[in-house]
Amino acid sequence: MSVKIKNNIFLKFLPVVIGIVIFLKEIESVHTHSVETKYIQVPVDHFSPTEPAKTFNLRYLVYAKNHIKGGPVFVYTGGERDITVAARHTGFLFDIAPTFNAMIVFIEHRYYGRSLPFGNTSFASLENLRYCMSTQALSDFAYLLNDLKKNLSDTSHATGPFIAFGGYYAGTLSALLRLRYPDLIKGAITSSAPMFYLPGSTSCEDYYKIATRVFMKYGEERCVRTIKLAWEIIISISKTKKGMDFISSSLKLCKDLETPEDVEVLLDWLAETYVKLSMVNYPYSSDYYNPVPANPVLVFCNKLNTAHFNDTRQFIEMFAAALKIYTNYTGKAICTDIFYKQHNANELAWQYQTCTELIMPKCSTDYDMFITKNWNYEDMSLDCYRKYNIKPRPNWAFSTYGGQNLHYYSNVVFSSSMLDPASYNAVYLNKSDDKSKQPWISYRIEEAPHLMEFRTSDRTDNSYIIKARNFYVSTIKNWLNQK
Ligand SMILES: *[C@@H]1O[C@H](CO)[C@@H](O)[C@H](O)[C@H]1NC(C)=O
Ligand SMILES: *[C@@H]1O[C@H](CO)[C@@H](O)[C@H](O)[C@H]1NC(C)=O
Ligand SMILES: *[C@@H]1O[C@H](CO)[C@@H](O)[C@H](O)[C@H]1NC(C)=O
Ligand SMILES: *[C@@H]1O[C@H](CO)[C@@H](O)[C@H](O)[C@H]1NC(C)=O
Ligand SMILES: *[C@@H]1O[C@H](CO)[C@@H](O)[C@H](O)[C@H]1NC(C)=O
Repeated sequence: MSVKIKNNIFLKFLPVVIGIVIFLKEIESVHTHSVETKYIQVPVDHFSPTEPAKTFNLRYLVYAKNHIKGGPVFVYTGGERDITVAARHTGFLFDIAPTFNAMIVFIEHRYYGRSLPFGNTSFASLENLRYCMSTQALSDFAYLLNDLKKNLSDTSHATGPFIAFGGYYAGTLSALLRLRYPDLIKGAITSSAPMFYLPGSTSCEDYYKIATRVFMKYGEERCVRTIKLAWEIIISISKTKKGMDFISSSLKLCKDLETPEDVEVLLDWLAETYVKLSMVNYPYSSDYYNPVPANPVLVFCNKLNTAHFNDTRQFIEMFAAALKIYTNYTGKAICTDIFYKQHNANELAWQYQTCTELIMPKCSTDYDMFITKNWNYEDMSLDCYRKYNIKPRPNWAFSTYGGQNLHYYSNVVFSSSMLDPASYNAVYLNKSDDKSKQPWISYRIEEAPHLMEFRTSDRTDNSYIIKARNFYVSTIKNWLNQK
């Protein structure tokens, strides 16, 4: 008897307990907004007619607090990172959702974050990696949006038009989504979208040139000179094992430098760190990559510019101290992991994509602060083959998406910032172009770090950023008024 009562009580509270667990599990806090985490089963391969299709759980986030029946849906088409990162750094959508009575949906790109088609073995073999491609991701997005529209059609959250948003690779996906599914997607706002990612379509040197421009502007020439000197010193010191050990301990590397290949990894990591610092050069502290202070380029350069040193060892020490604003700003880093590309799942997926479909030529020249590095297709192809046993298909993008003539991208905004290295193969505004003759819209932001206009508004925002956001809002309003 008493057992039965206990059972009854248990059963009565079970849904509550489950409810709490689900609540804790499925609500993601983004800024101050509670965003619901959801999953949908999508086919692993959208292009195989085999039945029954193998499926996996694709993650997406929904914020419907401001949405009313028939209101638009702002769709962030996830790119090469965990979708929660995009959600945390795209506050603009939350800022404007009330004005539009809009719902916001962030969709994760397959193979990133938690959307792994083969769970923890997704990266274990090329066989498992082969569905990691933009075409499959676009189909995931279309599949989910179609389903969402259907499911909500008779409810108080029936959806209005879909507007896609994306920065960098996610921006290319937004533009392609509009191009491929014009009846589903009313328009797309993209920022720093690498539309010209094929060899020969842009010059390879802009990436490092723009990063250098940011350092020249905010860190002064002296800083750029010290950075150039640093390459020489690190290269010469790391020729001996003793020198490698010294660098390893100064930078507190997680794994000591042991071979010339390790030194190459260090040099690549350093180049990437400078580029990232220039990208996140926001006027407030942020954590887009690592946590960094406000104006990180200035802070880093101030440390370099005021440092004094008499020998190379002192130089390395003060250099390592300056780098801490990126590697250890919180003071919580145990060690510096320069080898993360070899084991971080998101990085593996991205390297697979850049070695197969998204060929993004990057080179450094005498006109930037980086070590001179040529780019050619054969070397890149060999490198991919050596590392991952795959070779890029230079014609795949063309045979899949057609040429890089933007003429058919109607209702797409292509923004790029003159101070964002990631804009290097984006669409720049050519001031002499006749804008009335093009169905797409290019928009140039003079001064903004990476995707800054997509971030939540802040009192430090400059006028270019405010103007860009206003332009997006009025453009979306125009699209929504189109029949
Ligand atoms: C993968 O996940 C399964 C089940 O969650 C676990 O048993 C297994 O140890 C994991 N394998 C690896 C390589 O992490
Ligand atoms: C739509 O409803 C079906 C059936 O309940 C469900 O399996 C699917 O996940 C829903 N899709 C979305 C996007 O909500
Ligand atoms: C460099 O050497 C000079 C002269 O030997 C010395 O006065 C100075 O303190 C040294 N600077 C540093 C940073 O050690
Ligand atoms: C980070 O800073 C803390 C506190 O100063 C220090 O204990 C730790 O060793 C540092 N880690 C790295 C990688 O610099
Ligand atoms: C800009 O447009 C002019 C006129 O159409 C053209 O001659 C020039 O090459 C273009 N510049 C760039 C950078 O595309």
